[in-house]
Amino acid sequence: MQQQIVLNNGGSFPALGFGTCAIGAWQQDNEYVVDTILKAIKAGYRHIDTASLYGNERSVGKAIKASGIPRKEFFVVSKVWDCDQGYEETLKAFDASLKRLDMDYIDLFLIHWPNPNKTQSTWQAMESLHQQGKVRYLGLSNFRQADIEQLMSFAKVKPIYNQLELHPYLTQEDLCAVCDKYEIYVSCWSPLGSGTWSGVPTSEKPIADPVVINMAEKYGVSSGQVILKWDLQQGRIAIPKAESEKNIKANLELNSFELSTEEIKEINQLNRDHRYGGDPDTAYEGNMKMRVPE
Ligand SMILES: NC(=O)c1ccc[n+]([C@@H]2O[C@H](COP(=O)([O-])OP(=O)(O)OC[C@H]3O[C@@H](n4cnc5c(N)ncnc54)[C@H](OP(=O)(O)O)[C@@H]3O)[C@@H](O)[C@H]2O)c1
Repeated sequence: MQQQIVLNNGGSFPALGFGTCAIGAWQQDNEYVVDTILKAIKAGYRHIDTASLYGNERSVGKAIKASGIPRKEFFVVSKVWDCDQGYEETLKAFDASLKRLDMDYIDLFLIHWPNPNKTQSTWQAMESLHQQGKVRYLGLSNFRQADIEQLMSFAKVKPIYNQLELHPYLTQEDLCAVCDKYEIYVSCWSPLGSGTWSGVPTSEKPIADPVVINMAEKYGVSSGQVILKWDLQQGRIAIPKAESEKNIKANLELNSFELSTEEIKEINQLNRDHRYGGDPDTAYEGNMKMRVPE
């Protein structure tokens, strides 16, 4: 049985999701992407993370249809991109995502990156989509403390989670404490230290860290599994992306071992505040140059 995240309204979804950013290549949306997602579904994933910016929502929708498994058994996450924030723009961007996914609703819709000038109007559009039953839950991504506090001052529908870059080299403890205070779950993006899009060699990622490797040897698992277990034992969501059948399956097989409290602390101590992806303090300008493909 996969570990579940249980929400205040009694709803739940699997803590381990499948990341889909840059499967094959950046914004690739073709049979290879469909087949990879289908492999993940066959392996047991039911929580799938995409975004309009990834340019692969069509493949996500096709894979879910091709699996033959009822839509309601999936938890599908997508996001509104920076260029599409604002009330009318968000409604339009949501409709485009829904159309590409070829679905009637999205389970969780996130603001991909904070833009404090537009947070209120974007969120109000999302609340209206929620009201209409087009989105089951609303959430955040890359929100800092001040962004969360701003949102909580007006939100009628509360965010269920904040998706953050989080791995052993970027543990974000203070921000996680803020999320806890507001009862917002933390979802970890690039949990293994990022995909090939970052250009970072594996040797520089936390999966190659000797502390993690030693624990993996002790439990007879891979270092990726140790990191994902570290996430889940702390009550977090993780959305690793994998293309090889071996990694796709391994990332779901986390029930054979349990890290001790000491080991969890040891991994926390690997933190070096190192980001592989964008920093919400500086990402805005660069993000505004990146377009969502039709
Ligand atoms: N909200 C945001 O701003 C944001 C930003 C970035 C990413 N994300 C989301 O987070 C997801 C995950 O992040 P990510 O794709 O950057 O990277 P990641 O999940 O940290 O790492 C993916 C890389 O690790 C490898 N890998 C997977 N499982 C492994 C294992 N058990 N052992 C060793 N290596 C393993 C993969 O190889 P193979 O593919 O060869 O198997 C791939 O190269 C994305 O796909 C996306 O959905 C969100």
